[in-house]
Amino acid sequence: IAWNEIARSLALDVEKVVMPLFGTSRAGETVGMNVSGDVTKYVDKVAEDLVIERLKPLGVNIVSEEIGFIDNGSDYTVVVDPIDGSYNFAAGIPIFAFSFAVFKGKKPVYGSIHEFVPRHFYEAVPGEGAFMDGERIYVRKPERGKEALSFYTRGRCTGLIKRVKRVRVLGAIAVELTYLAKGALDGVLDIRNYVRPTDIAAGVLIAREAGAIVTDERGKELEVHLSATEQTNVIAVNDEYLLKIILEEL
Ligand code: IPD
Ligand code: CA
Ligand code: CA
Repeated sequence: IAWNEIARSLALDVEKVVMPLFGTSRAGETVGMNVSGDVTKYVDKVAEDLVIERLKPLGVNIVSEEIGFIDNGSDYTVVVDPIDGSYNFAAGIPIFAFSFAVFKGKKPVYGSIHEFVPRHFYEAVPGEGAFMDGERIYVRKPERGKEALSFYTRGRCTGLIKRVKRVRVLGAIAVELTYLAKGALDGVLDIRNYVRPTDIAAGVLIAREAGAIVTDERGKELEVHLSATEQTNVIAVNDEYLLKIILEEL
């Protein structure tokens, strides 16, 4: 299956239906509750309905953020977040993305993220590297004392904030993981036990293929499970020394 073609055309179709709603109050209207107990906004529903309809003919299993797990008895499972960063979207903050990952059994085989506003398309295949718009991307080597981290903490372990130069919390972890992958951030952490596989499945693969280290709260390699509801902590960094500092503070 040509996952890259499917993902790209789906991302562009989602873009077409959602962008007219960007920054509107309609986009942010609550239309229900999702499987993890979060509200579903109008824009989430519009985007997800399109994704589900388009994936249906493939007969694959689907894990999607609002609707949850659809088991079609396939070897393949698509873990998708049609809009990551829907608060930003509705509020008119231009940081949000379409996140699409494919697993064969429990193993990731493909991941992509479409960042709508600059219109960047990020992709990765295990063992083949990470790409932005077809060009290879890599994490950067952090400069000591000049680190830039995205850090979702909810008040925990805030001592870390004093040990880095910049903290940027952008509200769409899929996008933030691509920023790590292309060397715009040195780390992305969420220690609220809050992110779900739909938020990070594609981003973790892209970041790893660009050279990032991605672990759980203990520094153990993070495994992304095929679930729409399981919540986890995540630490993704471009260098061992940063991981060490972070683990000391947690
Ligand atoms: C959210 C984003 C955000 C993270 C939240 C998620 P959503 O996803 O990934 O970065 O902090 O935990 O819920 O709801 O906008 O798809
Ligand atoms: Ca999300
Ligand atoms: Ca979402």
